[in-house]
Amino acid sequence: MAANRKILSLPGDGIGPEVMRQVGRVVEWFDKKRIASFDVVEDLVGGAAYDKYGTPLAEETMKKAQECDAVLFGAVGGTKWDSLPFAVKPERGLLRLRKEMDLFANLRPALVFDPLIGASTLKPEIIEGLDIMIIRELTGGTYFGEPRGITTLPDGQRRGVNTQVYTTSEIIRVGRVAFELARKRSNKVCSVEKANVMESGQLWREEMQKLHDAEYQDVELSHMYADNCAMQLVRNPKQFDVIVTDNLFGDLLSDCAAMLTGSLGMLPSASLGAPDSSGRRKALYEPVHGSAPDIAGKDAANPLACMLSLAMMLRYSFDLKEEADVVETAVKNALNRGVRTRDIMQPGMTAVSTTEMGNAVLEELQKIGG
Ligand code: IPM
Ligand code: MN
Repeated sequence: MAANRKILSLPGDGIGPEVMRQVGRVVEWFDKKRIASFDVVEDLVGGAAYDKYGTPLAEETMKKAQECDAVLFGAVGGTKWDSLPFAVKPERGLLRLRKEMDLFANLRPALVFDPLIGASTLKPEIIEGLDIMIIRELTGGTYFGEPRGITTLPDGQRRGVNTQVYTTSEIIRVGRVAFELARKRSNKVCSVEKANVMESGQLWREEMQKLHDAEYQDVELSHMYADNCAMQLVRNPKQFDVIVTDNLFGDLLSDCAAMLTGSLGMLPSASLGAPDSSGRRKALYEPVHGSAPDIAGKDAANPLACMLSLAMMLRYSFDLKEEADVVETAVKNALNRGVRTRDIMQPGMTAVSTTEMGNAVLEELQKIGG
C-alpha cells in the first residue's frame, strides 16, 4: 500500500514521549491491518531539542513540519528549562510551529464520554452528553503582539509589556471556521471577548457580527464577555455549541472546558491553517494536557488525549472518517471496560498505567477491526 501520508511526530518533553509511544502503536496497527499507512518521521522539539541543538526547534525540523501533511505533537516544557530566556524556552518551539505554519484555528472539542461522567468534578446532570467545541485563535493576540518585552525604567523599576492586537482579517478567518463548523453541529456560535474594556474586543465583536450578517445568517450568533463565559462553562456548559475566542482567552477557557470532561488527559486538539487551492491545509495535532513534569517517565500519564488527537488528524487531514470513528470507539470501549489512568480514576475502577491503557485500546481496536 502506498504510504503517501507524511506525518512528522514530535513527542517533545515530559509525558509527551510516553503518550506518543501509545499513539505509535495505533498507527502501526492501522498499517499492519492494511487499513491506512503513514510515513512517520520523528524529531525533537522543546527542551529535548534545546538540549541537543541549543534551540527548541531546529531549522531542519521547521522545514520538515512545513513539508509534511500533518504534525503530531506531544508536549513541551519542564522545570529544567524554566529559567531559560524566552527566545529559547521549550514553549517557543510550539509557538514557532503555530506561527510559521500559520495555524490560526485551534479546535478544542470538550466531549464527555458516558463512562467518565463520574470522573468530572461537576454534577452528572450538568455534563452528561456535553459536546462543545472551543475554537481558539492561535497566531495572534497577546501571544504574538508587539511591542513586547521587559525594559528597565530610568528610576530602576522594570516594566513588562505584551500587546493584545487583532486585525479584521485575523478575526474574520477564524470566525469563518467557527460558523462553518457550527453548521455541521448544532448551528450555534458564541463569540467571546472583553468588548466592555478592550478595543480589540470591541473590534472582535463588531467583525463577528458583520461576518454573521453578511454570510452566516442561518447560524445563531451570540456574544459573551470572557469572564462570564468562564462562569457559564461551569454553571451550565450545555448552553454552548461552538465558542470562538482569541488566543489568550481561548487558552484559559479551553483548560476550563477540559476539566468538565473529567480530566485534561482527555482533551485533544487540532490546529489548522487556511486551505490551499487543492483544499489541503497545514495542520498540527496535540493533546491539550501539556508536559506534566510531575508524572513524566512514570508510565502514569493518560494517553487518550493524544490518541484522540490522532483521530482528529485522521478526520481533518486525511478525510479518514471511519478510521477516526474506529479510534474514538476503541477509546470509549476501553473506558467502558473500567480501566482508568490515575487522572480519571474512580471508585470501583481498575487503575492502569499508560502502557496498560494503550494495551486496552489496542485490544478494542482488534475487536472492532480485527
Ligand atoms: C496550550 C499550552 C500552550 C499555550 C503553551 C505550552 C505555550 O498551554 O497549548 O494551551 O499557552 O498555548
Ligand atoms: Mn494552555
